[in-house]
Amino acid sequence: MTDEAGEVVLAEDLGHGYRRLALKSPAIAAAAAPGQFVHLRVPGLEASALRRPFSIFDAEGDRLEIVYKVVGRGTEALAAAKAGAEVRVLGPLGRGFPVSVRGTALLVGGGYGSAPLHLLARRLLAAGVAAERIEVFIGGRTAGDLVAADRFPALGLRTFLATNDGGVGEKGFVTVPLDAEIARLQTAGAPFELFACGPDPMLRAVAERAVAAQAPGWISMDRHMVCGVGACYACIQRTVRGNERCCVDGPVFAAADLVWD
Ligand SMILES: Cc1cc2nc3c(=O)[nH]c(=O)nc-3n(C[C@H](O)[C@H](O)[C@H](O)COP(=O)(O)OP(=O)(O)OC[C@H]3O[C@@H](n4cnc5c(N)ncnc54)[C@H](O)[C@@H]3O)c2cc1C
Ligand code: FES
Repeated sequence: MTDEAGEVVLAEDLGHGYRRLALKSPAIAAAAAPGQFVHLRVPGLEASALRRPFSIFDAEGDRLEIVYKVVGRGTEALAAAKAGAEVRVLGPLGRGFPVSVRGTALLVGGGYGSAPLHLLARRLLAAGVAAERIEVFIGGRTAGDLVAADRFPALGLRTFLATNDGGVGEKGFVTVPLDAEIARLQTAGAPFELFACGPDPMLRAVAERAVAAQAPGWISMDRHMVCGVGACYACIQRTVRGNERCCVDGPVFAAADLVWD
């Protein structure tokens, strides 16, 4: 874990309240693994303000990227940071996704939850997993919430889209195309693993499908964080082992270990 001064090299408006931020942050970019997160000290906020956690969208060379949604005071201030601004970065933090798969990897994302799946997809490919064995399912309320969804076909991956209003892709939840693909793989007797990040109801649906299919499931939980390093117990996640800290025991948990309220 490193705490370094990152330098903003790109601050891009992706539309619909989403933004991409690239930072020159060499030590953390070099150590980053998919599913891990960074804790950012947002410039423009008072010195006593809490850091904000963001999944690592990409890491290459000395460059680290996040994709985020502007939802409140911290992300509004972050959106005002221009190229050249300093952002202190603590990371990489937490336990990420395994970068291996038995059978087909089904990557399921909702909203900004597609961010860690992008780095995961790139690292699976780099680890020698064939593009045909990685399938991506991205859901959102509307087309504007399918953030960075174009990045997956650009990697040569089959990508299924779903929107609640049917504006793009299948109409309904992301589980519509996901269930069809799980059924196809099961009929063919083909093994698969599920990797998911997004809103809680989506994560629960994916975890339940993994458990029902007796397939490995890797679920990235989004809990409110304060310290980000295991000290404050603000980010409790219930598991079969008892309460665990999302920031150090997760954010990625095995589907079968999660206990839902
Ligand atoms: C491990 C992890 C990875 C994350 N990755 C990303 C990412 O890649 N992209 C991204 O846009 N966001 C991500 N988040 C959520 C992000 O940290 C929050 O949206 C951000 O901290 C909000 O800060 P704010 O000051 O703008 O909002 P605040 O003013 O603090 O809150 C505004 C609203 O957002 C809600 N909120 C705050 N924190 C969270 C949270 N952790 N989860 C859900 N709702 C929250 C608040 O309840 C409130 O309704 C991640 C969170 C975690 C724990
Ligand atoms: S945020 Fe402090 S223990 Fe997880």
